Amino acid sequence: MATGEAHRIVDVENVKQYTFSTEPVPRLSCSDPEAEKRIANDQPVVLTDTNLVTSALHWNEAFLRTHIGDGKFTVFTSDSHKFLYYDDKKLKFVPNFKPPTRHLEMTFDQFIDKIEDKNNSKWYYLQQGLNDTVGTQIVFDFMGFNWSWITEQQKKNGWGTLTSNLLFLGMDGVITPCHYDEQQNFFAQIKGYKRFLLFDQDMFECLYPYPVFHPHDRQSQVDFDNPDFEKFPKFRNLKGLETVLGPGDVLFLPTYWWHQVESLPGLGNTLSVNFWYKAGPVEKIVYPLTSQQKVSMMRNIEKMITDALNNTAEVAPFFQNLVVGRYT
Ligand code: SIN
Ligand code: FE
Repeated sequence: MATGEAHRIVDVENVKQYTFSTEPVPRLSCSDPEAEKRIANDQPVVLTDTNLVTSALHWNEAFLRTHIGDGKFTVFTSDSHKFLYYDDKKLKFVPNFKPPTRHLEMTFDQFIDKIEDKNNSKWYYLQQGLNDTVGTQIVFDFMGFNWSWITEQQKKNGWGTLTSNLLFLGMDGVITPCHYDEQQNFFAQIKGYKRFLLFDQDMFECLYPYPVFHPHDRQSQVDFDNPDFEKFPKFRNLKGLETVLGPGDVLFLPTYWWHQVESLPGLGNTLSVNFWYKAGPVEKIVYPLTSQQKVSMMRNIEKMITDALNNTAEVAPFFQNLVVGRYT
């Protein structure tokens, strides 16, 4: 089975089966020309020897507790192990929206107390940008990241600026449901094991994203555990890639690639850091347009129409009138 091959240490018993099939993401050395080619072509690849976060491989809950400082951290809490993201700024467009998670601000100490409290049935997931409130030890390790390698990638591939390094500390078994992001991402695993299910932009129609105005913009509407095939028939055609990242592994996750991320149950809490880069400017337009460019265009058109109508209830009928019977 793909995941078992993808990482030597992971027991396949821990891995949930879904209705779609997957192929493994290639695991390559960063000095392999094939890896370079994949990055240049916006294809995911796992790099096993970048040393991107080697300086942080000793980070764990106790070390961070001592050194991370007493600033406040963004923590999500959920009644289940799933943490479906939503955008606060879009809540006003969906009056009856029930947020599936809550955002909390707390100190690192308070967070660790929560996740270690056996009487607390809630789930917690810390997701915080590394900032200048962290202690000197952490700053030292951060400076020891392999910046020369990653900056060379940024330059070579014409990306924009590094926008953030998010630190993820998740409880054993947490899941970030399927979505896409709008930035280039090098995702570095520090502790524990994360399974990534990945889908390219051609799978857009199989994953049924929420409308752009909706708080769950960029998230799939399909519940992978219990897909409603009547509502989402093309979910049957879904095909993907998958891999398991362990400590030291780095996944290149290109812009607009769909991903679901699962901290493998039974293997402990997980700690990761991402490196988000703005996508580069398009130098010269080549036809046919790439699938990424088409997703970007669809988003822009959807936003433009939503703004122009100034009433989210009119968006669906507008698009139906535009399409049904003429383009269907
Ligand atoms: C996660 O690690 O849980 C989510 C990462 C991502 O969505 O980019
Ligand atoms: Fe993401």
